[in-house]
Amino acid sequence: MNDMGSTGRGNADAAFWEKARAHLVRYGGDFAPFIAERAQGSFMWDADGRRILDFCSGQMSAIIGHSHPEIVEVVRRTVGELDHLYSTILSRPVVDLAALLAELAPGKLERVLLLSTGGESNEAAIRMAKVASRHHEIVGLSRSWHGVTGGAASATYSSSRRGHGPAQAGSFVLPAPDPYRSRFINADGTYDWQAELDFGFELVDRQSSGELAACIAEPILSSGGVLVPPDGYMAALAAKCRERGMMLIFDEAQTGLGRTGHLFACEHDGVVPDFLTLSKTLGAGLPLSAVLTTSQIEEACYERGFIFYTTHASDPLPAAVGLKVLEIVIRDQLTERARSLGAYLRDGLRSLQQRHECIGDVRGRARASSSA
Ligand SMILES: Cc1ncc(COP(=O)(O)O)c(C=O)c1O
Repeated sequence: MNDMGSTGRGNADAAFWEKARAHLVRYGGDFAPFIAERAQGSFMWDADGRRILDFCSGQMSAIIGHSHPEIVEVVRRTVGELDHLYSTILSRPVVDLAALLAELAPGKLERVLLLSTGGESNEAAIRMAKVASRHHEIVGLSRSWHGVTGGAASATYSSSRRGHGPAQAGSFVLPAPDPYRSRFINADGTYDWQAELDFGFELVDRQSSGELAACIAEPILSSGGVLVPPDGYMAALAAKCRERGMMLIFDEAQTGLGRTGHLFACEHDGVVPDFLTLSKTLGAGLPLSAVLTTSQIEEACYERGFIFYTTHASDPLPAAVGLKVLEIVIRDQLTERARSLGAYLRDGLRSLQQRHECIGDVRGRARASSSA
């Protein structure tokens, strides 16, 4: 490709922008002001020939880089052999990926539903929790992002609640744990997350009509500002759920598959949820998501006629990609790499913070060389 993209007009290509303005729905504010021509590894190239470090890893998903050669090979081969099937027809990549996820996941999360997007996986987990508990009230954290479909959007509080009518009945919010400038402060100035959690559940209990089904949480709240819950918080949250007979859903869309220095971020907390959802990183940029749950919950849902029938449930092509992603993450020890690079980044950011007063907070989970 030449330096000015395929048309030679570069990012300023008026015809391109005119067509985009005329024909695209703006679904998330404004579009980035350049034309992406290709992406490889950690970089994108725009139509002016600029190489841009993709600090977003696509939409926070490309954990093994763009167009990883082994993924390209799997896609090429699988699309030519077994691309898409009727949703109740099974294939080997689907069953193999489900079995591998069950083997790798904490606890006994041994039943797996393979879908396409993160919102869909949370929608399915919420729906299963409602069916299995025979209740409908769902609690979410105030800086959460779980997706834009009905149930997932009703439990999303960091953004996008305005303009499309009421959320699902029985949607309650807990304050997200955020030590930075918290209102819940001990006499010694430390963050009193337990008081905040107790207060949150007091409000939930007062609003509930006795139908609490589940609480959904990200082990590290990602789009809401990379909030790392204090050690002990998730265990305390799980205990609050248990006391009320609620199920716990962990959404590991952004934290799953090694990113936080554990294969699953909830391993850091030593808490096994009733549902674990994976998306973004599982397909490393291709549309693949999963709901993991226990046999007991799956059996209860099946007996009660649980339906979550989508066109791309159990599709072989993305499942084959997911298998390869897991193989690479494990083989190349990317979890360990994330742990050491995370500590390196954090130490560097902390030293910048020492020098620049305008940096109020440095967040993230890193343990290797810095104190957590
Ligand atoms: C934690 C989390 N869950 C769910 C989603 C929704 O995923 P999707 O956009 O694939 O529906 C996101 C998207 O940013 C997310 O960050």
